[in-house]
Amino acid sequence: MTRAPSTFRIAPSILSADFARLGEEVQTVIAAGADWIHFDVMDNHYVPNLTFGPMVCQALKPHAKTASGQAVPIDVHLMVSPVDALAAAFAQAGADLISFHPDASDHVHRSIQAIKSHGVKAGLVFNPAEPLDVLEWTIDDIDLILIMSVNPGFGGQSFIDSALRKIEKVRKLIDASGRDIRLEVDGGIKVDNIRRVADAGADTFVAGSAIFGKPDYKAVMDQMRSALP
Ligand code: DX5
Ligand code: ZN
Repeated sequence: MTRAPSTFRIAPSILSADFARLGEEVQTVIAAGADWIHFDVMDNHYVPNLTFGPMVCQALKPHAKTASGQAVPIDVHLMVSPVDALAAAFAQAGADLISFHPDASDHVHRSIQAIKSHGVKAGLVFNPAEPLDVLEWTIDDIDLILIMSVNPGFGGQSFIDSALRKIEKVRKLIDASGRDIRLEVDGGIKVDNIRRVADAGADTFVAGSAIFGKPDYKAVMDQMRSALP
């Protein structure tokens, strides 16, 4: 299925931004054309790294808008276990979407409902070796499916090709559900592979090191968009 270009979203991951200038980095990447801000939360327990929490999300919220004042969604990717208490804290801190890994929650359905009870969109994230079975029982309740194309925990890793097959599978499940669910992909996305990821069925692309690693964020995102169908 070919999607209209307007349906694609680029979500720069601030994991690769300059942490000493985070507010400015968020503004710069939005001015350069970011559709969402991807916010990677790591707890040194579910993943072997530690990043930032709800207070940082709250501090960045006023910066997550365009020059004309339009809000840019904050897309929180929780790599934490347990999930529910932190998800609630991020909802209060201004997150617009909150995704978690089903294997990090003892009660996946409850965690989804907990996120949605705050009026925030809920997503499920699947690691490279994680099966999709849980979707059979949750697809009617979620707004986003995030496929990991690297193992979570670090930026700058290489894209794992088996993710393409998984994206194709998820695209079929979403289309069969008839629901409006975003299919986001995270890890190793660059100008030279984004088209393959889109052709497999993704509509939302996380990119950290590809954008923040370069001097001109707009040039990279423009190249990504022109690589898309
Ligand atoms: C990894 C994170 C990613 C990371 C992607 O655990 O979930 O969002 O920032 O970084 P790149 O685009 O450099 O692979
Ligand atoms: Zn992420």
